[in-house]
Amino acid sequence: MAMDNWIRSLPKVDLHVHLEGTIEPETLLYLAEKNKVVLPWTTVEAVQQAYAFQDLADFLQIYHQCTQVLRNAEDFYYITLQYIRRSAAENTFHSDVFIDPQTHRDKGIHLEAMMDGITAALREGARQYDYSMGFILCFLRHRPQREALEILHSLGPTRAHFSAIGLAAKELGYPPHLFIDVYKTAHAMGLYCTAHAGEEGPASYVRSALFDLKVHRIDHGNAIVDDPTLIDYVRSQSIPLTMCPLSNRALHIVDDLSQHPATALLNDGVCVTINSDDPAFFGGYMTENLSAMVEHAQWSKNEIAKVLHHAIDHALMPDHRKQSLRHRLTQAL
Ligand code: ADE
Ligand code: ZN
Repeated sequence: MAMDNWIRSLPKVDLHVHLEGTIEPETLLYLAEKNKVVLPWTTVEAVQQAYAFQDLADFLQIYHQCTQVLRNAEDFYYITLQYIRRSAAENTFHSDVFIDPQTHRDKGIHLEAMMDGITAALREGARQYDYSMGFILCFLRHRPQREALEILHSLGPTRAHFSAIGLAAKELGYPPHLFIDVYKTAHAMGLYCTAHAGEEGPASYVRSALFDLKVHRIDHGNAIVDDPTLIDYVRSQSIPLTMCPLSNRALHIVDDLSQHPATALLNDGVCVTINSDDPAFFGGYMTENLSAMVEHAQWSKNEIAKVLHHAIDHALMPDHRKQSLRHRLTQAL
C-alpha cells in the first residue's frame, strides 16, 4: 500500500520497546542452539504458532522462556545490533529501550555485562546508521520493591547508561503505589520516570502512577479513557502515553484497532505516541504499528505526523538531536 511506503520512509522514534521483545524467531532458535538452552520449539513455524496469546499473563510466560536464551554480553550485542539494523531499514532513528536487570540476574548475568554488549552494538549502530537509544532501567512489578531498590542503590558506574526507570510485567494485582520508594529514589537520582499502567489494569492504576509515583510518562495508559479527570490532567501536563496497537490487539487488550483509544485521545489533544512494545512477538515494528492505525482506525497523514512529532518531543535524547530529527521529519512530511 502506498501509505505503508510513505510511513516507512518517514523518520521515526520508538519510545516503548523491550529489548528482549526484539528477538526474532530465527535468532531465538540460533541462540538456543548456541547456548544449549532447551526450548519447546525447534522450528520458526512452531515458534510462530506458539505466539498466539490469550492475555498478558500468557504472553509473559512465553516471553520469559524466550529470555532464557540470552547468556552473555555477546548475545546482548547480537540482538541489539539486529534490532538496530531492522530499525534503520524502516527509518527508525531512535528507540527508548526497556532493559530488565532482574530477568538476567537470575541466570547470573550482571547488568554491567549486559550493558557492555548493548552499548557496543549501539556504538556500531550510531556509526553505521546515525542511530541512538535511550535506556530505561525496568523493574518487574511482581518482584519485591526491596529488590528494585537494591539494584538502584548498587548501580555504580552503570548508572551513567540510564536516563530513566520503568515498571513492567504482570499489572493486575501489582498497583504502582507498591513502588513509591523506588520512584522517590529515582526522582532524587535525577532519573526520568515512566511506568506501564492501564494496559490490563484499571484507570486507578494510571492515577496511582501519576500521583503516587509522579511519573513523567505513562506506558500504554489505555484505561485512562474511563476517567475524564485523568485525561484532562495528562493533556494539561503534556504527559505522553506510549501506546502500542499491535501489542494490545495480540494480548486482547482491545478487540479491534478501530476501537483503540489512541484515536479519541489524540483527537482530544492528548500527547499520544505509537510504539512497538515487543515487535518480534506482536507482528511488527513502527511501520506496521502506524500502518495498522491507518488501515483499521482511518488515520490520515495528519494523525501520523502528530504522533511522530510527539515521540521526538519526548524521547530520551539530547535537544540538538531532537532539533535535527524534527527538521528531517518536517522535510519528509
Ligand atoms: N514486558 C514486555 N512486554 C510487556 C507488556 N506489554 N506489558 C508488560 N510488561 C511487558
Ligand atoms: Zn511494554
